Amino acid sequence: MTRISVRVDGVTYSDEVEPRTLLVHYLRESLGKTGTVVGCDTSNCGACTVHLDGRSVKSCNVLAVQADGHEVTTIEGLADGETLTPLQEAFRDCHALQCGYCTPGMIMQATDLLRENPSPDEAYVRQHMEGNLCRCTGYHNIVKAVLQAAGATATGGEQA
Ligand code: FES
Ligand code: FES
Repeated sequence: MTRISVRVDGVTYSDEVEPRTLLVHYLRESLGKTGTVVGCDTSNCGACTVHLDGRSVKSCNVLAVQADGHEVTTIEGLADGETLTPLQEAFRDCHALQCGYCTPGMIMQATDLLRENPSPDEAYVRQHMEGNLCRCTGYHNIVKAVLQAAGATATGGEQA
């Protein structure tokens, strides 16, 4: 076992973990941060996306020990109390989710996307969200929500 100290959603945790423990499992099973979900465990779906020192990472692709001494933000740490971020508001307003399973990862990835490029066009959004899979929505409203949060308007057809 290895002792790690990680700041997660503004709180510092110190825990013993096995060296093989994945960050997503540490978040869910040790910290109870079940807003971060596992969709595939093979780094394909993006459902487990969190921020590590402000950058989006797939937490099934990071060991908990790699987060030692670093800062993690999950979907549970994004809103300011009851106040949602503009992107979270946009997902709600644009009906950018159905079952919601992919949504935490989508929002964490899109938050990093907008941090890097506050004025993306639709092609940029689609390209930078390609690592996040959704089985329900057809993606149109997700892209629309990201563009709305950026103050832009989606182009293109109706939701698939
Ligand atoms: S659970 Fe991490 S990418 Fe699918
Ligand atoms: S809303 Fe169901 S997987 Fe995306």
